Amino acid sequence: MQQHIDSFLQTIPLELHGHRKKVCFFVDSIEAMRQSKGGGAEKVTVLEVGCSNGVTVAMPLAKIGYSVKGIDLHQPSIDAANAAAVDLPAVFECVLLEDLGEQELFDVVILSDVLEHVPDPHQLCSQAAARLKPNGILLISIPNGFGLYEIEKFIVKWSGIGILMSMLRAILRRRERGLFDDAYNHDSPHIQFFSRPAIARVIAAGGLDVTRAQNGCLLGGDVTMATLGRSRAIIEFTLRLANMLPAWAVSTWYFECRADAESR
Ligand SMILES: C[S@@+](CC[C@H](N)C(=O)[O-])C[C@H]1O[C@@H](n2cnc3c(N)ncnc32)[C@H](O)[C@@H]1O
Repeated sequence: MQQHIDSFLQTIPLELHGHRKKVCFFVDSIEAMRQSKGGGAEKVTVLEVGCSNGVTVAMPLAKIGYSVKGIDLHQPSIDAANAAAVDLPAVFECVLLEDLGEQELFDVVILSDVLEHVPDPHQLCSQAAARLKPNGILLISIPNGFGLYEIEKFIVKWSGIGILMSMLRAILRRRERGLFDDAYNHDSPHIQFFSRPAIARVIAAGGLDVTRAQNGCLLGGDVTMATLGRSRAIIEFTLRLANMLPAWAVSTWYFECRADAESR
């Protein structure tokens, strides 16, 4: 099983923003949980909230064999995900988390690059925690609101090079195998900018303890993606370097969380 998973993970496109690294972090946590509870991958139920078209997280997890549900508020993304998932143990629904059936609980809930898009991240984190089965895990990926990725986005936005960016995006869409294709919610910008203490407060307010954490990527804005991100050596170097740097110096963070003693 582990060999099958490792070789599958190597097939995920390697890019500067670290989506492969993120999925590897999630899978390490899910596998540790699966092994402790016993049973095959299909016994592990996973909910991804804000799954978009499923390409980055939900679909790779379904390809490993976990039973995946993805939800998002963007219908075209969900339609694309369902069309691509015909032979996979995955279903995708255009529904808000609070409108999911009350009885639906999961071994794993994932908030991957979504808390920065919502007006009330505390509420979304608490709602996600409430969807965990006993001993379930909540997995989070979040940008450092003051990291190089956000700084680059800020400079690009306010320096008036929007036309150049449109051209770069057109190149990226071809290069990134559907990651940024039309079935993607381009109208859901980042509206939250978390420091490390701020995201820690959101997690704690959800009644959760962080049980594992890792730095994600160092770079990953559109300009660096289209320039430095063309070199495999640079991608690998920056993703490894991010592991050695302090949390404040990198662009994304990953967390594994479990219900704290009080909430159990
Ligand atoms: C950056 S994408 C993340 C996609 C994927 N989870 C990943 O890790 O690459 C953010 C997604 O969150 C979705 N979104 C924004 N607010 C949401 C909400 N309240 N509930 C569910 N999804 C939401 C957007 O439609 C968008 O598809």
